[in-house]
Amino acid sequence: MKTIGILTSGGDAPGMNAAIRAIARTAFANGLRVKGIRNGFDGLIKGDIYEMNVSSVADIVHKGGTILGSARSKEFMTKEGQDKAIEVISSYGIDGIVVLGGDGSFQGANVLHERGIKTIGIPCTIDNDMGFTDWTIGFDTAVETCVDAISKLRDTSSSHGRGNVVEVMGRHCGDIALYAGIAGGAESILVPEVEVDMNQVIERIKRGKARGKLHHIIVVAEGLGNSRDIVKQIEDETGVETKLTILGHFQRGGSPAMRDAVLASEMGIEAVELLLEGKSSLAIGTQGGKLMTMPITKAIKMKREFNTKLYTESSILAN
Ligand code: F6P
Repeated sequence: MKTIGILTSGGDAPGMNAAIRAIARTAFANGLRVKGIRNGFDGLIKGDIYEMNVSSVADIVHKGGTILGSARSKEFMTKEGQDKAIEVISSYGIDGIVVLGGDGSFQGANVLHERGIKTIGIPCTIDNDMGFTDWTIGFDTAVETCVDAISKLRDTSSSHGRGNVVEVMGRHCGDIALYAGIAGGAESILVPEVEVDMNQVIERIKRGKARGKLHHIIVVAEGLGNSRDIVKQIEDETGVETKLTILGHFQRGGSPAMRDAVLASEMGIEAVELLLEGKSSLAIGTQGGKLMTMPITKAIKMKREFNTKLYTESSILAN
């Protein structure tokens, strides 16, 4: 192992830069060369690659986004695209690649492994939708962003006696909604993993209104796909004027929270150590708070288990 590449792929996540820095600095400390691969697997195919040095990763630990750029590559899904990527890797003398991203990116890492390139995956996605790890890098920061938004919406909601439906990201995973909803004190949390009971939502708003409550916050995971219908039903059945706020890509930016920056740093160091040990196609995660690894092929098959206990408890808190 003399030269490693770093690649960020899929949706960006706060903490990616902290991981890039940790990978590069650990590699330099071990006498390795580091190549930055721009724009994910697309950049790999195109040979959009540069030599990194200690300064390339200076002043980035606290920055959101990814200095390497990210993309979702259709071309890499084809045999031709993969052939091109392998040619580029060998022409740049890259022996191992650390891939930062979600499930799709991990699949890409495994493709490279099957073609003889050593790869390690670091889970980066705000969605927290990967089953093999307790937490993905970026989740904590995104939840903090949502909590901040909820508390600001509550201020104005209270002034006008309005309701607010706040749609958060998470694709098919309700984790952002659950954790932001609890930490933000939402009245109701609606997620794709649990059947929606609109009667309960409506009843809770009516009860709140009857006892003079001035705000009603309903956090909805984007995976449900019907936030506008929810707003309409609430207005029709409760008479409470209700606004829809879709937080969208706002949730993907910002400085990483402490936990994301530290987790990213630990995982970055571990990734280089694994490559130096000659390991490949491993996903790094945490289980019970401890760093662990698992074959990527196994990790991407693990379905995330939704915390139904916490979800049920959230309903008691909101009463
Ligand atoms: O990063 C994950 C995620 O934020 C999902 O929650 C969301 O559905 C998706 O990415 C949207 O990302 P993009 O618009 O970049 O494809």
